[in-house]
Amino acid sequence: MAQRDGSHGYPPDYLGADIRAGRCGAVINVVDASAVNELQRIARQESRLGIPLLVGRDVIHGFRTILPIPLGQAATWNPGLVRAGARMAAEEAAAAGVNWTFAPMLDITRDPRWGRIAESLGEDPYLASRLGEAMIRGFQGKELAEPDALAACAKHIAGYGAVEGGRDYAATSIPEIDLRNVYLPPFQAAVRCGVATMMPSFSELNGVPATANRFLLTQVLREEWGFDGVVVSDWDSVCQLCVHGTAGDKAHAALLAVTAGTDMEMTGDAYNEHLGELVALGTLDPCTVDEAVARILRLKFRLGLFDARRSPAKGLPARPSRAAIETARLAAEQSVVLLKNNGPVLPLSIEQLDTVAVIGPLADAPWEQLGTWVFDGDPGETVTPLCAIESLAGGHLKVRHVPAMVHSRGRAGPGFDEAVETARNSDVVLLFLGEEAILSGEAHCRADIGLPGDQLELVRQLHSAGKPVVAVIMAGRPLALTQVLDHVDAVLFAWHPGTMGGQAIAELLFGLRCPSGKLPVTFPRMVGQVPIYYSQKNTGKPPSPAEVVHIDDIDPQAAQTSLGMVSFHLDAGYRPLFPFGFGLSYTQFHYGDIFVRPLEVSPGERITIGAEVTNAGAVAGEEVVQLYVRDVVGSVTRPVRELKGFLRVQLEPGEKRRVEFALDTDALAFHGADLRWAAEPGEFRAWIGGDSDAELGVNFRLSGTPAMAGVTS
Ligand code: NOJ
Repeated sequence: MAQRDGSHGYPPDYLGADIRAGRCGAVINVVDASAVNELQRIARQESRLGIPLLVGRDVIHGFRTILPIPLGQAATWNPGLVRAGARMAAEEAAAAGVNWTFAPMLDITRDPRWGRIAESLGEDPYLASRLGEAMIRGFQGKELAEPDALAACAKHIAGYGAVEGGRDYAATSIPEIDLRNVYLPPFQAAVRCGVATMMPSFSELNGVPATANRFLLTQVLREEWGFDGVVVSDWDSVCQLCVHGTAGDKAHAALLAVTAGTDMEMTGDAYNEHLGELVALGTLDPCTVDEAVARILRLKFRLGLFDARRSPAKGLPARPSRAAIETARLAAEQSVVLLKNNGPVLPLSIEQLDTVAVIGPLADAPWEQLGTWVFDGDPGETVTPLCAIESLAGGHLKVRHVPAMVHSRGRAGPGFDEAVETARNSDVVLLFLGEEAILSGEAHCRADIGLPGDQLELVRQLHSAGKPVVAVIMAGRPLALTQVLDHVDAVLFAWHPGTMGGQAIAELLFGLRCPSGKLPVTFPRMVGQVPIYYSQKNTGKPPSPAEVVHIDDIDPQAAQTSLGMVSFHLDAGYRPLFPFGFGLSYTQFHYGDIFVRPLEVSPGERITIGAEVTNAGAVAGEEVVQLYVRDVVGSVTRPVRELKGFLRVQLEPGEKRRVEFALDTDALAFHGADLRWAAEPGEFRAWIGGDSDAELGVNFRLSGTPAMAGVTS
């Protein structure tokens, strides 16, 4: 029931004795195939019961070939591609002897200050559920017992993305109705698609740390959802129960965690030191320990660790496979979101240009573009934008590179003058800005989500050079880009795009490919708008453009009076900078002919909602068609719209496609005030379009008598 850290020196030397003595059933952070093989040999041949080890590693967005960060993968809105990426990562990791990954992270978050938003699949439970399932299927393969399958781990149950102030590890307070409607659905979807393991969050939920939260780990997870896999604690989080202040000592912490449903302790020594003694004292029911052990053993059998199929790890080949490289390139391409394209300045034409200026701290930063949680990726294999642009340019285009800053947090200096001078002498400026990898991820939260350092000043100075400026932003979170937008002609938001990010970006810039990424998270105008997300509630005083006043437009002569009297900020209005689902293309997609069948649906029936999508531009492109639904009158307030379906379609210029979504009436259900899950009869409105502001809508009804909440007869 103990997982030990193998990241110090040669693990067999210091873990061997514990494995022989049965004090270590799993390891984390051993990725050297020969060390893994030796540990497995010790476990199989020299431990009393001969039980092989679980070998865990954070394979979060690739192992050796690095995919875009999970938030970037979410921007592809492409479950098939996300699954292929996880499969590729599993194959690479399994070659090193790993059989368990701590992914996917399914925490819904609406707070870009939180560094772990980079690891998330965005703000929406439906999108995160579909992409989370895809990752799990990719990691776990056709069958867990296959030699290249990894056990996946859905983490961190639950509510971690709602930490106060976006500060990692802080407390979360979430009413159960929101927990069940927003935060838990991706975890339930994970259980339904067979995820092997789960990890509770570091944070507390409504006063009870998740590691010792019986409601989450036993009532919901096992009793309601029937999960029979393993719950592994987070790193040392059992012992941290003492720090939280819900356990008096480590024995108490072990008792709380194991009885709540945490089967295995990741690092830490509370279980090894105290479970035996707690049973001997009669404080802990031995059946609780037996059940946890049975779940761990079941996982080892499911993984085929007792069969010959899991033969010793062979180690990684000298180079990543072509297929891995192509999967990483395609994932990067589809993750990039075109936010602005005035002119249009993009795509660039090599034939019509003579000189391009490639400027900025992230133009040639092989490590930084890989993003957070990269332990096994080799920056030597990274293709940076500079390198890809130079190779595309061949002899036809002069490429002048000026980093201008040493890193993204740098200050203005002589590099700025050189950059401006280079911009003046070039036809176009390609400006690579953003955050370095270390500025997002676990414990890397920011209170200000603007561009770090003096990057905004660099943008301003380059704008004054008078040449078209294309900003390419690589970051681990949505950034507040309002001021940047005023000074550039185009923006490509590339997240941290991974090993092949530079290639994908260069191909998009020069029109070899067409941008098709869509935002998996709302972009605020300024950090004070957070949390701002598309599926908010309507309120009793919803805003509209006519009622919103800007602080700069308040008439100083007018007597002080009330302003607006609707829900908005005087200095930011009520609209985000870019809505959830948004993303431009080099072509235009038109939507029309929306329909719903039947207009009135009975509980248990299927409803089909569709529309015609046309590529009205001159180039081929891919569009992510999105379906949103609103329950117009509910027994409790319902979000103004919720994503209920999406589909990526490829359309040639002029091509039309009828896209249909089939929904069960269960897709209209939610947890009400009594927490029961039900679809309520009455009026619904559906919209189909290219983002969450879609205007093309249609109404339908769910038959039955609408509930009159709060009315008693
Ligand atoms: C802490 C993180 O919260 C978790 O997500 C990760 O899997 C473990 N450490 C192991 O590295």
